[in-house]
Amino acid sequence: MKKIRYAIIGCGEIAYWQAKGIARTENSVVTACMDVNKDYADKFGKANNCKIYNDVAGVCKDPEVDAVIVCLPHFLHKPVALECAKAGKHVVMEKPIATTLADADEIIKACKDAGVKLAVPYVNRYRPEVEKAKELIEKGLLGRIVYLHIQDMTLKPESYWTMGWDNVVTTDWRASKAKAGGGAMLMNCSHYIDFFYYMTGLKAERVSAEYDTYATKVEVEDLMTILIRFKGGATGVVQSSSMLPGRFENVHRIAGTEGQIMLTNPLKVFVTKERDGLKANEWNTVPFDNPDDPASYLRKKFFELFSDAVQNNKPVPISGEEARVALEVVLKGYEAADKRQVVAL
Ligand SMILES: NC(=O)c1ccc[n+]([C@@H]2O[C@H](COP(=O)([O-])OP(=O)(O)OC[C@H]3O[C@@H](n4cnc5c(N)ncnc54)[C@H](O)[C@@H]3O)[C@@H](O)[C@H]2O)c1
Repeated sequence: MKKIRYAIIGCGEIAYWQAKGIARTENSVVTACMDVNKDYADKFGKANNCKIYNDVAGVCKDPEVDAVIVCLPHFLHKPVALECAKAGKHVVMEKPIATTLADADEIIKACKDAGVKLAVPYVNRYRPEVEKAKELIEKGLLGRIVYLHIQDMTLKPESYWTMGWDNVVTTDWRASKAKAGGGAMLMNCSHYIDFFYYMTGLKAERVSAEYDTYATKVEVEDLMTILIRFKGGATGVVQSSSMLPGRFENVHRIAGTEGQIMLTNPLKVFVTKERDGLKANEWNTVPFDNPDDPASYLRKKFFELFSDAVQNNKPVPISGEEARVALEVVLKGYEAADKRQVVAL
């Protein structure tokens, strides 16, 4: 079957990782790239042997492009998604889908109206520890889930704010509230909120939160905590930071009435009843396969599924509606902290 041909829009840090993932698939290929910065587009185009554009209109007119991957600063997600959807291109939208729920809804609607597929590569869902924990949870090993603990407390270097982690391009949007929409919680921790939703299916009912910018010369938060009450009664705490000196030993946990899982490598699992080879009332270790080059493995998996969905008209992996779940938790968290109130979702 014909490979799905992708144009990558925005040739910065994540674009290179997406291309690496796509290169590992059998059913997908990067056929074009686009960046307003000519040098960045040229560099990426040469490295990936693809057509080079400097405007979205050029990509939209290209009949050899089936789908676009929007790898742009967050404030540009909506206008570019709408333009591409209108041109009949399927849309892979980097996370977060948008910076407001209204914009997310507009993107979802525009793709539906245009009859194109939309997905958001929250690829951490495919981490082997997440898949393994999901499997154990679905077997009912934990009983009724009562508590989620999501921790992403890191320390970002000063250079991150203009050059990301990989120093591939220089941009100014990460530090700007208007352009990024938020800091560590939106930018990074939304990945973890997403995969906890994927593992448990739990949706938040109300949130309270606190956030601030303590040690970084940026407009967005560098530390935030959200307290969540989920539908059905479970509670959760989400902690996120980009400024913690010495970092943190982050451990994500899920606890139920009959057990607990720590998302470590290998997994640590405690159960109150002996089951599936796990001993009761002690911590068990549960190994899982570790893929080569995890960052490109996760993206390979996503693009294999997305291209298959386009080729065979199947449901996409991680739809716009699913990606909206994590966005809503984060944005309502900002609202709760700003208003000093508990906010319903
Ligand atoms: N999935 C992940 O793990 C992951 C990791 C990093 C970033 N991201 C996401 O990817 C997106 C891009 O992040 P990044 O780190 O690659 O950013 P970046 O700053 O490294 O790159 C952004 C690129 O967009 C270009 N650009 C700016 N305005 C443009 C316009 N109007 N038209 C076309 N190109 C334009 C810039 O020149 C730059 O090359 C964001 O949504 C970010 O949150 C995801």
